[in-house]
Amino acid sequence: MSIQDIFESMDYGPAPEAAGEALAWLVDRGDTFGHFINGSWTAPGKGFESRNPATGETLAMLSQASADDVDAAVSAARKAQRKWTRLSGHERARYLYAIARLVQKYSRLFAVLETLDNGKPIRESRDIDIPLVARHFYYHAGMAQLMEAELPDAEPLGVCGQIIPWNFPLLMLSWKIAPAIAMGNTVVLKPAEYTSLTALLFAEICQEAGLPKGVVNVVTGDGAVGEMIVNHPDIDKIAFTGSTSVGRKIREATAGSGKALTLELGGKSPYIVFDDADIDSAIEGLVDAIWFNQGQVCCAGSRLLVQEGIADRFYAKLKTRMDGLRIGDPLDKCIDIGAIVDPIQLETITRLVDEHGGEGEVYHANSALPETGCFYRPTLITGLHTSAWLMQEEIFGPVLVGTTFRTPKEAVELANNTRYGLAATVWTENINLALDIAPKLAAGVVWVNATNLFDAAAGFGGVRESGFGREGGWEGLTAYTRPKTKTKTLAPISPFAEGKDLAPSDGLDRTAKLFIGGKQARPDGGYMQAIWTRQGGLLGHVGIANRKDVRNAVEAAHKASGWGKTTGHLRAQILYYIAENLSARAKEFADRIDAMTGKRSGNKEVEASISRLFTYAAWADKYDGQVHGVPIRGVALAMHEPVGVIGALCADETPLLGLISAMAPAMAMGNTSVLVASQPFPLASTDFYQVLETSDVPDGVVSILTGDHVELSKTLSDHLDVDAVWSFSSTDLSADIEKRSAGNLKRTWVNNGQARDWFSTDGEGREFLRQATDVKNVWIPYGE
Ligand code: NAI
Repeated sequence: MSIQDIFESMDYGPAPEAAGEALAWLVDRGDTFGHFINGSWTAPGKGFESRNPATGETLAMLSQASADDVDAAVSAARKAQRKWTRLSGHERARYLYAIARLVQKYSRLFAVLETLDNGKPIRESRDIDIPLVARHFYYHAGMAQLMEAELPDAEPLGVCGQIIPWNFPLLMLSWKIAPAIAMGNTVVLKPAEYTSLTALLFAEICQEAGLPKGVVNVVTGDGAVGEMIVNHPDIDKIAFTGSTSVGRKIREATAGSGKALTLELGGKSPYIVFDDADIDSAIEGLVDAIWFNQGQVCCAGSRLLVQEGIADRFYAKLKTRMDGLRIGDPLDKCIDIGAIVDPIQLETITRLVDEHGGEGEVYHANSALPETGCFYRPTLITGLHTSAWLMQEEIFGPVLVGTTFRTPKEAVELANNTRYGLAATVWTENINLALDIAPKLAAGVVWVNATNLFDAAAGFGGVRESGFGREGGWEGLTAYTRPKTKTKTLAPISPFAEGKDLAPSDGLDRTAKLFIGGKQARPDGGYMQAIWTRQGGLLGHVGIANRKDVRNAVEAAHKASGWGKTTGHLRAQILYYIAENLSARAKEFADRIDAMTGKRSGNKEVEASISRLFTYAAWADKYDGQVHGVPIRGVALAMHEPVGVIGALCADETPLLGLISAMAPAMAMGNTSVLVASQPFPLASTDFYQVLETSDVPDGVVSILTGDHVELSKTLSDHLDVDAVWSFSSTDLSADIEKRSAGNLKRTWVNNGQARDWFSTDGEGREFLRQATDVKNVWIPYGE
């Protein structure tokens, strides 16, 4: 027998992890669980079974939370929050540290329980999920410790409702709970109905760690319980990880409620292999990308893009590797592929492949399948059109779709040809190519020559319909804090009533147009609106922009997207130049503001506007990203990227300062914007066109519309090519904007009935810069 024969025929004996301890833990609790509310357990109520997907056996009975249970959990969290937030950061850090230690102490129990409940291979729960959970609590113990010194302007949000999925049950719990409680919030968490057991064990270790009652509450149940949490009036923030369709519903349900929201949703992440890649490594990476956790990973590299010249060789090697993957008992340490979480999910995967796979060539690995349980073979589908359903939609199973590309440019186009934007992987031995491609990918995370790397120090989250917000790293803390901004109640500001004069006192006709794509444009509808002084004098007319004007402005903004690729140095110079040109006409602007508002604040407002332009000119080349140290052979570069096209309804009360306060941070960070001027006092904005025209601002970087805030906010929020909508209007548009934004899950930043003092530092700074940027974490190899 040759060595080759031995290798090919060698069989591994099973090496199962013992389940005794975990099963005994369940038996000790009567195999039945209530909810964990205010530090103790409720009596088990009517509920449902939690099953082992590998065997179909029932593991325990869980309770379906009622509205009263959710109420009790929220009020316990509210009560606890008052005290919890008053503890010092150090005191909170000690609790997080204690939890981290206990996760390590019970790590084997956690790992086995997770594998029994979810079906994931024990190798993964033992070596990846649970160590990352401990790491998350250690890391955030440090954040609690540093909060007062490093985040003096941040305060907790209050009570956080957290809804998590079944694919990484305990890991997602840790991503949600650790930063929340570190920053002084309390939580009501709902695990997914298929996989609640490790969350219940976690509740026990909270008791063991002596965590004050009510800081962490766990209620179990299905989506209906999730909805109760989402709709509960006494919750300040919702954090959700799960499907894009539920994420969209949650966006709509929380619209106008004032609740903060972060959504970590689905993906169809590209896995790009260039022809100079180390192919064997890229194949191993691909195994991790799509067959880790049976492909039930939101950032799974589920779309293979391989360069044409190596495609045949790559597919051949891939199929051989797929055939070698071992499917079976998840508790067996030699297993590569475990069980799909539930028969329903298995049915979905099977149906999707059967219904849509026929358009391409479907290759199922020939690995042996266990006779019973929820298992699905690793599958590769090639030859699909790029717009085919399976190329576009998340399957959430061990199914890879693959296609080829010729040039790097085409790779980027294909990679970005999706409504999602969660993660992307790039394989090449050419550092220039990798780092040229990484910024061009629409994704919140990019891995270079590696894949599916996670760490508490590096933010995780997506763009586009993959959601918004980051979890992990310094950037993740903003999801659980708010700036200590002083706000006052928003008061709608009306224009002055129509006067009697039909012509301005100097007899000149001043009819301002719109400013679209660097040119002054007549409003599409052809209608104008007169602007009157307090005394009834006619100051001039402005155009009333409509849907078509918004569309034109958004189109111009997209054409100007090259602005995002310019240097901060160049953007700074242009902002300084705008300030200089405004300064040269300061008196004219001040007089105009006085005439419009009937106040004598013009001088002060122009001075503040010039200073604000300087502020963002200063920031344009200084709001740098970070380098996150992560415990692997590499670093994560947390890069600030522009959000894209920002639509902003500008403050009514300070017509020039309001416009500049939205425009300048957007511009400084490389965004293009469509600004809607102060509705009652729009003329300072229309005069400002000339300043922009003489300041080297490229066409389309800023467009300015005048007209009705309510109408224009609708069009901007509905528009699928607008990436973010901000509202500082004195009309509270928050609910409508947030609801409409669900269409493409654009980011929103609305005032929720609160006005800010634009003259103070609350009207500028880091909060604006954060809203104008997304953080992309690019993981690159570095060091030994
Ligand atoms: P899901 O999005 O329905 O469930 C995730 C969590 O949300 C669970 O805790 C569930 O109880 C809760 N939930 C469901 N409906 C809700 C509602 N209306 N309001 C509040 N909470 C609600 O995901 P599901 O049904 O478990 O899986 C369906 C598909 O979702 C998968 O096939 C996959 O494509 C995707 N998915 C994506 C995940 C990700 O990490 N991106 C995780 C889980 C699922």
